[in-house]
Amino acid sequence: MAGKWVRMVTAQTPTNIAVIKYWGKRDETLILPVNDSISVTLDPAHLCTTTTVAVSPSFDQDRMWLNGKEISLAGGRFQSCLKEIRSRACDVEDEEKGIKIAKKDWENLHLHIASYNNFPTAAGLASSAAGFACLVFALAKLMNAKEDQSQLSAIARQGSGSACRSLYGGFVKWIMGKDEDGRDSLAVQLADEKHWDDLVIIIAVVSSRQKETSSTSGMRETVETSLLLKHRAKEVVPKRIVQMEEAIKNRDFASFAQLTCSDSNQFHAVCLDTSPPIFYMNDTSHRIISVVEKWNRSEGVPQVAYTFDAGPNAVMIARDRKTASLLLQRLLFHFPPNAETDLNSYIIGDKSILQDAGI
Ligand code: DP6
Repeated sequence: MAGKWVRMVTAQTPTNIAVIKYWGKRDETLILPVNDSISVTLDPAHLCTTTTVAVSPSFDQDRMWLNGKEISLAGGRFQSCLKEIRSRACDVEDEEKGIKIAKKDWENLHLHIASYNNFPTAAGLASSAAGFACLVFALAKLMNAKEDQSQLSAIARQGSGSACRSLYGGFVKWIMGKDEDGRDSLAVQLADEKHWDDLVIIIAVVSSRQKETSSTSGMRETVETSLLLKHRAKEVVPKRIVQMEEAIKNRDFASFAQLTCSDSNQFHAVCLDTSPPIFYMNDTSHRIISVVEKWNRSEGVPQVAYTFDAGPNAVMIARDRKTASLLLQRLLFHFPPNAETDLNSYIIGDKSILQDAGI
């Protein structure tokens, strides 16, 4: 292990948007959810995290930079992910560079981590999802850990729940699991990105400001105070998961859109049912819902699905390219960026996947 070498790995991971939402934990430390959830992984060209992890005997402590600014690694979530991957590290040998790291050496080696998001951090665009998925993936490659994507997803989950779903592309399900230790709370791919490739995603960045209530504290308060959440987790989501899996399998856009919009609306209803209530959407978000609902009703069959995470930004999924271009025309007419609408910009991209992340 001696010498003046640096071993580096770079990975790129897209974010994901839930169409059946995760909201509420049954275990805060292990990050175990109260229900299953389903997401689409986005196109890495538009919303992704790029992370480089480096190891060298000359590093004297673990350090991390996010978007160029050093941040603390003291948080329990980073430490959980690092610990889990370190415990799975294997021998690494790179003859060309003269690097030889034995399994036991990893405990004493320190890491430098640099991570960049190409989208607003913590503005309800699931930055922690891409961030932790990318970190875990890159560390696993660096340390030659032999885990498969599903096992890695259970580690990324301990960084941020939604991160487990970003380890796969296409349509992904996070199975809540039953085990106390969380080993069976992991992500599986329902269908790859080629399965339903006419869908186009348009995101209206209504605000790129940091949200006031983080997902973590918001869902804690919901679990403590909302009766509606109990009904949702027990009665509503299990049925919707089955229906959504069926809609994805059959590329049934009408059911997909109906389930996606209803689930987003119920998630925000659950936030309102929290004491004190949590407001993630704003007037522009509500107006976007009205425009889409009116359009869908006038066509008789849904053309566009909408969904909102813990922030006011609208994620819209159009049934095909032609509909996406009509949607964009309508949006630009009703919500021109930077006018009184308070709207920032639009991000347009096909849903896509984490291939074998670019290294
Ligand atoms: C509204 O995964 O950010 O985006 O597990 O506390 O880190 P923590 O929360 P996080 O929550 C995401 C919530 C959501 C819905 C979803 O992605 O399913």
